[in-house]
Amino acid sequence: MDRQYYNVVSLIRKKRDGGYLTKDEIKYLIDSYTKDELPDYQMSAFLMAVFLNGMNDEEASALAYSMLHSGIVVDLSSVPGVKVDKHSTGGVGDKLSLILAPIVAAAGVPVPMISGRGLGHTGGTLDKLESIPGFNVNLDLDAYEATIKKHNLVFIGQTEDIAPADKRIYALRDVTSTVECIPLIAGSIMSKKLAEGIDALVLDVKHGSGAFLKDVNESKKLGQRLVDIGLQFDKKVIAYLTNMDQPLGYAVGNWFEVVECIDCMKGKWPDDVREVTLLLSGAMIYLGDKADSVDEGVKLAEEMIASGKAYQKWIEIVGEQGGDVSMIENPDSYPKAEFSLEFKAEQDGYINSIDSYLVGMASLELGAGRKKKEAPVDPQAGIMLHKKLGDKIKKGETLLTLFTNKKPYLESAVQILKDAYGISNEQTEIKPMITHIIDKDGLRDFDYSTVPSLKR
Ligand code: URA
Repeated sequence: MDRQYYNVVSLIRKKRDGGYLTKDEIKYLIDSYTKDELPDYQMSAFLMAVFLNGMNDEEASALAYSMLHSGIVVDLSSVPGVKVDKHSTGGVGDKLSLILAPIVAAAGVPVPMISGRGLGHTGGTLDKLESIPGFNVNLDLDAYEATIKKHNLVFIGQTEDIAPADKRIYALRDVTSTVECIPLIAGSIMSKKLAEGIDALVLDVKHGSGAFLKDVNESKKLGQRLVDIGLQFDKKVIAYLTNMDQPLGYAVGNWFEVVECIDCMKGKWPDDVREVTLLLSGAMIYLGDKADSVDEGVKLAEEMIASGKAYQKWIEIVGEQGGDVSMIENPDSYPKAEFSLEFKAEQDGYINSIDSYLVGMASLELGAGRKKKEAPVDPQAGIMLHKKLGDKIKKGETLLTLFTNKKPYLESAVQILKDAYGISNEQTEIKPMITHIIDKDGLRDFDYSTVPSLKR
């Protein structure tokens, strides 16, 4: 059929004036932009119109559909089993993919994982994996398929063929201040995830000081959009809303986080990392048909840790993708950052707030993230927390240790962190980590009694 042509200015105007575009109109805009037939300035104007006026459900699905079909949709039907992935909307110290993917793969569920790099103040799975010397995340799609067949697990980055519209539009959003927009985020995430060849998806939608969308009500809307799109594409989907009011675990920064993951896989968990990782793993195992409920899935996930099978799977995949296994087996042999500094408490009291955004920004400043697009990250840079929310602290005690290879960054990171901690005499209540669930039955508060195995 001949391609239908539209007047782009009219489409932008319609969206600008609060109107709704049809599926064909959205597809036309996305296709034209991907083929370089639409200039950046017109796509920017369209994105800003969407940012200001939003999209209805049909438009949001059409956007995800068009972005998905801007590239290849991988067919993993030759891989036996229900293929399940997990996606997090991004947080500080969020290293969970590295732990849960081997757990779930060891439990017999294939996990094809296409991940991203650090974005703004949040870290990225690819940067963490690449801190392991030799680890190759740039597999082509044949190697992707062969690896998942062999190991039930593969970690790669977005290739040129996977949702190329997202790659281009994301870069434009970054420089036109149109990132924090629910339909644009939903289209971006789901186009990549649906392209990987999955049957089911577990989503971790963050809220709180370290999340992109800090307000829980915004996260609920995003979670609902993500789930709706997944269901429309006939995928099994569960989203959990989780708290990002403090960094996850104690390590922030690429290699530091890998080391914390190794500890977790050996059963030495920070409580918050344990809780969210086991829940998400349990949900993946359940959606992957290897357990009759999420709770059964959590029990199986714990068995994978206790038996050492998750750690074995991790070693296996690191070796397969070219990583130096000796570094995993002996993390102390990893070269250390040249400079460090202890960031100390200025008063006695209880830690009642930690601004995770500032901790993420300080880690980026130290070299763990990017100040410019495509810049390399420093795998040795980062921050180790010594205390978490609710902990008692004395004046002069160390809250954080900062690590970098560029000495001046220590001072600038300290400047960023100076208002990051709230310390007071009264201990305030710590909010639960998992706050809501969204699935085919809609949104509800998360009820811990439905997953009793999460309790220690
Ligand atoms: N992660 C993505 O992949 N896309 C967004 O738009 C935001 C977070």
